[in-house]
Amino acid sequence: MPDTSDPMNELVKQLRHWRIVPVIVIDDPRDAAPLAHALLEGGLPCAEVTFRTPKAADALRVIAQECPDVVVGAGTVLTVQQAAQACESGARFIVTPGFNSTVVDYCIDHAIPVFPGVCTPTEVDAALSNALAVLKFFPAEPMGGAPFLKAISAPYSMVKFIPTGGVNLNNLSAYLSLPCVLACGGSWLAPREWVRAREFDRIRLETERAVQTVRQLTGGA
Ligand code: 3PG
Repeated sequence: MPDTSDPMNELVKQLRHWRIVPVIVIDDPRDAAPLAHALLEGGLPCAEVTFRTPKAADALRVIAQECPDVVVGAGTVLTVQQAAQACESGARFIVTPGFNSTVVDYCIDHAIPVFPGVCTPTEVDAALSNALAVLKFFPAEPMGGAPFLKAISAPYSMVKFIPTGGVNLNNLSAYLSLPCVLACGGSWLAPREWVRAREFDRIRLETERAVQTVRQLTGGA
């Protein structure tokens, strides 16, 4: 039975409902709140702020403080220092591109949900040995997409994946139709250039389209 007092279980429950994790790159923290509101209004109260810009932690903090209805996490976390900075800024989860055991250990020690990236059985085994059973599958499309994920997931019925990397409206359904997929991550809802151009209405509309696709798949549930 899910234990909703546990942050990981609660987050997994939410992701199972939303089925999409918007991956965002923010250059200017002044864009953070309007971007988060666009996602929220589009129907996705969730954002992964990637640590790929010097202002990522500031942007994350703005969303955590000014948009409490949005579950915000940190992505592209490569070091323990970044993980600590993300937590201090209000991140509710951490995503890493690969399986970095020092970052994973930090997150486990600090009870912050972590979704490490994997794309081989060896990496899935490493995650399982740390009792992690929700993993980012990255880079999803270049690795072979939904057919590859279906094959790699076969021995691991206890693992759920968040495919990310090349996911968009055209292939979203193929991933979400796999029983092993919890949710998909992607930047297509809010590409960096749209954010830079402050095209927040466009981001809201793209988010609505994605949510509509999820609804069609789940029969409106
Ligand atoms: C990530 O940061 O997880 C990925 O680079 C996002 O991939 P995408 O830009 O292809 O969606």
